[in-house]
Amino acid sequence: MVDAVFEPGAGREFNLLVLAGDGIGPEITAETLRIVSWFGGHLDVHFSIEKQAVGGASIDECGQPITDAVLQKALRADAILFGAVGGPKWDELPRASRPEMGILRLRKELDLFANLRPAINFPEIVAASSLRPELVDSIDIMIVRESTSGVYFGEPRGITTDQNGQRSAVDTQAYSETEITRVCRAAFEIARRRRRRLCSVDKANVMETGALWRAVATGLGRDYPDVELSHMYADNCAMQLLREPKQFDVIVTDNLFGDILSDEAAALSGSLGLLPSATLHMSDSARPRRALYEPIHGTAPELAGKGIANPLASILSFGLCLNYSLQATDAADLLVRAVRDVLGLGLRTADIAAAGQAPVPGAAMTDAILARLDETATRPRRLMEA
Ligand code: IPM
Ligand code: MG
Repeated sequence: MVDAVFEPGAGREFNLLVLAGDGIGPEITAETLRIVSWFGGHLDVHFSIEKQAVGGASIDECGQPITDAVLQKALRADAILFGAVGGPKWDELPRASRPEMGILRLRKELDLFANLRPAINFPEIVAASSLRPELVDSIDIMIVRESTSGVYFGEPRGITTDQNGQRSAVDTQAYSETEITRVCRAAFEIARRRRRRLCSVDKANVMETGALWRAVATGLGRDYPDVELSHMYADNCAMQLLREPKQFDVIVTDNLFGDILSDEAAALSGSLGLLPSATLHMSDSARPRRALYEPIHGTAPELAGKGIANPLASILSFGLCLNYSLQATDAADLLVRAVRDVLGLGLRTADIAAAGQAPVPGAAMTDAILARLDETATRPRRLMEA
């Protein structure tokens, strides 16, 4: 399902909507666009780029975290390259008008239900993990997080005040069978292309949604006898990720557990500034019909505007776009190899520099990757056919 086919053809146009957002979003996205432009020159694809505001930038410009006009463009785009949203400037706004609503509306209205969050350790920076190197040195976990439902969107929700002035708040965790089925199916398909192990994570011991989740995952497992399915409670999973992360291949879970566990997995890999993500509407047809690619890290306001932010997570997010939306797997591999080579050469931005290592600016990383791509792309125009 995810090994999507993008028909290459001379002059084929690929519409990339760029929503850079806030904080370090604009600067890391600008670096990624230099990489996009390199691939535009080496694949038979014309990347047509349109930039629009989202998050705090859109609040400042248009009074809301995303406009309907931008959502319409997002629906029509072949893919979205997203930066990050939020920042102290907008922290006092009511929840419904905060920058974060920009990304939440995109996920919901484009029905981007499968949020793929890889947590891999780059051997070149294994020392950056807070766990001992032998625990994390070769972790390669894919968290598939449901991203259009659950407690993020369930109704009723809100804060009410009773006649005594006592306030109460309610959020609703709700999942339909269809919603669980489609994201679990996506996870089984992904597991099938990896090490064929899928761990479904829930709180079936406490929650009704958890019980349904487990039943649906188990039923679906019969369609995938080649994938070893296991179940784990979310609290235990949080602990197992720290205790023995190498036991995991693919994890599938709901929106809230996925939010928490993917941050944990990213941090333990030591590569927070390096990890990309893809949020896809997957259907039975081969290619994801709509897709958004974004780094896992946030806006890092304290780094913004200094040119020191690490662009690698955003650049690798474009790598996922090459992989999933264009099915240019060789091109994606070439990009990942170039990133690893550059790390292997010792180049470090401040976030991953070890003590005594002099950090380089974000743009220097891109310069080095471009140089590496030029060196390694021996058959540049044939990347998509190889
Ligand atoms: C994430 C973020 C978002 C989420 C925020 C920014 C709304 O934490 O993508 O993990 O909670 O989904
Ligand atoms: Mg999060």
